[in-house]
Amino acid sequence: MSNIRTLGEFIIEKQYDYPHASGELSSLLSSIRLAAKVVNCEINKAGLGNITGSVNKENVQGEIQQKLDVYANEKFKAAMAARDQVCGVASEEEDHEVIFDSELGRNAKYVILMDPLDGSSNIDVNVSVGTIFSIYQRLSPLGEAANIHDFLQPGHKQVAAGYVIYGSSTMLVYTTGNGVHGFTYDPSIGTFCLSHENMRTPQEGNIYSINEGNYIKFPQGIKKYIKYCQENNPEEGRPYTSRYIGSLVSDFHRNLLKGGLYLYPSTAAYPLGKLRLLYECNPMAFIIEQAGGKASDGTKRILDIVPSELHQRVPFFIGSTQMVIKVESFLKEYPDPFS
Ligand code: AHG
Ligand code: MN
Ligand code: MN
Repeated sequence: MSNIRTLGEFIIEKQYDYPHASGELSSLLSSIRLAAKVVNCEINKAGLGNITGSVNKENVQGEIQQKLDVYANEKFKAAMAARDQVCGVASEEEDHEVIFDSELGRNAKYVILMDPLDGSSNIDVNVSVGTIFSIYQRLSPLGEAANIHDFLQPGHKQVAAGYVIYGSSTMLVYTTGNGVHGFTYDPSIGTFCLSHENMRTPQEGNIYSINEGNYIKFPQGIKKYIKYCQENNPEEGRPYTSRYIGSLVSDFHRNLLKGGLYLYPSTAAYPLGKLRLLYECNPMAFIIEQAGGKASDGTKRILDIVPSELHQRVPFFIGSTQMVIKVESFLKEYPDPFS
């Protein structure tokens, strides 16, 4: 047992590496760890009881909420509210930011943005899903209630970000700006144990991940890039392999480890794509950059985008640096959007 490092131990060990180390971020990461265990437990028994399916309600973005979306949102929100480091939460499942306007909340330093259950359309069929989180220091003064501007910060201001993947095993992967570290959950002892220290993603990859069913609606540059991926060119390792699960966390996690490119471009119907900048793209972009990869909206760095609204969408290209550069070059060469 002596060489096992738990997530709790690791967080404490690393807490003085954080930019404004005071122990509060460590404590916040610990509450995320706890909520992840609770949600993991529920997801593991999703086939039992009455917890799959929808709640016959839409979120503010017009998507049908699943029971587990609502469950995960409540658990993570409660874990944040119970601590004195969080002044507010924004979530895919909440129409507006939730401000903790109590004595503790007004004096708390951080806001957290989250996608409590990512890939929820996969939950009923036992396919991996996840949770994504992103943490910023507030901009508003301590002692006041937080406000919307605390949430609308560019991604390069994140102090921490991570995800939980509820897969064939459950993992928590996070960064505080000093590399990316992965912990595998050992259910026999109820603990996340360090399994992937200082994760690096390959500079090149041979996996492309995109919902090709939307092909007809893609911009010209993306259609050409897909054909490039499929071309027979053994010297350059093509054709590439196509892999698409439909849970960003799972597709991202595989590509992070193996090398690859995840794409969710604009389409004729959705000019800004589908994925949400603040709680899907920014945290993943922070992680991939920390692992040596790249994230782009097709022309510029995701982490430099200044957001204007909570549920803002953005075209998203993320993964191995050379693959992101390549898809950007196709978009530049074929700027004509949809022909
Ligand atoms: P969510 O379940 O949080 O709404 O996210 C679903 C997202 C993302 O996880 C996934 O990569 C993408 O939607 C899949 O979209 P398509 O079904 O359009 O391919
Ligand atoms: Mn999602
Ligand atoms: Mn979700």
